[in-house]
Amino acid sequence: MLVKDDTISATAQPEPTKKVFVKSYGCQMNAYDATRMTDVLAKEGYAETQAIEDADLVVLNTCHIREHASEKVFSELGKIRVLKQERLAAGKQTKITVAGCVAQAEGAEILRREKAVDLVVGPQSYHRLPELLARTGNGAGVVDTDFPIEDKFEFLADPAPERIRSRGLTAFVTVQEGCDKFCTFCVVPYTRGAELSRPVTQILKEVERLTASGVREVTLLGQNVNGYHGEGPDGRIWSLAKLAERIAQMPSIARIRYMTSHPRDMSDDLIAAHRDLPQLMPFLHLPVQAGSDRILAEMNRKHTAADYIRLIEKVRKARPDMALSSDFIVGFPGETEAEFKETLKLVEEVTFAFSYFFKYSARPGTPAAQLAEQVSDEVKVERLARLQQLVDTQRHAFNAATLGRDVDVLFEKPGRHPGQIGGKSPWLQPVHVDGPASLIGEVAKVRIIEVGSNSLYGRLLETPQEVAS
Ligand code: SAH
Ligand code: SF4
Ligand code: F3S
Repeated sequence: MLVKDDTISATAQPEPTKKVFVKSYGCQMNAYDATRMTDVLAKEGYAETQAIEDADLVVLNTCHIREHASEKVFSELGKIRVLKQERLAAGKQTKITVAGCVAQAEGAEILRREKAVDLVVGPQSYHRLPELLARTGNGAGVVDTDFPIEDKFEFLADPAPERIRSRGLTAFVTVQEGCDKFCTFCVVPYTRGAELSRPVTQILKEVERLTASGVREVTLLGQNVNGYHGEGPDGRIWSLAKLAERIAQMPSIARIRYMTSHPRDMSDDLIAAHRDLPQLMPFLHLPVQAGSDRILAEMNRKHTAADYIRLIEKVRKARPDMALSSDFIVGFPGETEAEFKETLKLVEEVTFAFSYFFKYSARPGTPAAQLAEQVSDEVKVERLARLQQLVDTQRHAFNAATLGRDVDVLFEKPGRHPGQIGGKSPWLQPVHVDGPASLIGEVAKVRIIEVGSNSLYGRLLETPQEVAS
């Protein structure tokens, strides 16, 4: 099956008369929100542009997770202000919107510091964008950082029924938003609010809409996605495992992924789903952050290193080919060399296929920022390099282990060279083969014959038709 036409439109859509440029920072949730914002703006006659100088509306979709996030936004806004003035001199208006987690955290302060901004909108208010934009332009900026997350879920369920756009074969779907975990280093509980799960029927409706436009793989998103507990069509509370099982029944869905999970919410039914549902991919992003029990307690993670290792053993027992990735923070306040070595030890025991690494950065308003013993940047840089090197070695070993193996690949696009197509393995490794474009959108078996540093090269073993016969 090929990706269908870019637009499958049910009813007529007004010809775009204006252009919007969206720049997103941060997590997949922000990336997902960006597509929803452009959907709702399409209804208002905005077409997306990649050229900021052509934009009648500029949206900065910001992230607040790391230090200096706000400063970076203000310096970016300074540049956009100049652009706005240049466009005005040429007789063109430009509206500037700050969205995302910095908008939520800073609110009206943004308008005070940067007068060129027209609108500050928090992540729970995107459904009100048209109405909010209509209120701008009279000299005073508009701010909406309200928190009625249920309204947002309604909006996500039916963002732009007149214009369903396919954005490829893989898609994100928000199923849960917010966080109640309050890790002591993190701003997310403050910027995204309390944990809330979308009702199952809304999610299914969105997945159906996506499959109608050619999507074969969905990644269920949430700040604590495995803590999902949404209302089911039967009036009961459904877990993520039950939701995944229901989505797996949709014939067009070949693959299901989810992120990001918390070790404490890795329930037995979800582990069993990894054993029972072939559509649920054997790749789990399960951030551990650190390997020292004292640091984990200081972080308020509410699990020990041994708990994490036991959990991974259980997961691998259910699904032996499970690969793991994690987030790590080095240099949390008070982290000693010996405690950092416990992180290295945990990595050696678990083995990861991939990971993200962060130097601890103090976030104002979070408990860890008040801790006295902050670790120097020099030490953080050095620890980060050591940890990264260890996980890199594991990543290379993981990729090398696929050599000679037969793996399923979901083909997503033409390859770099003519006659090639590219896709992903179940473990998110890019795979290229010589093969026909007609396979794009299909899953086919590939024998891996070459392992590069970031991608694999293989030979098609059979076409899906042969599999079926
Ligand atoms: N559960 C979330 C995590 C969001 S933050 C999710 O859905 O993605 C992503 C990662 O950023 C965290 O796992 C953590 O490793 C890192 N992080 C968060 N706050 C941080 C801070 N103050 N300093 C350094 N890294 C941080
Ligand atoms: Fe932040 Fe912790 Fe919540 Fe993840 S679980 S979003 S790291 S507070
Ligand atoms: Fe950043 Fe907000 Fe996501 S702070 S990581 S954009 S939830």
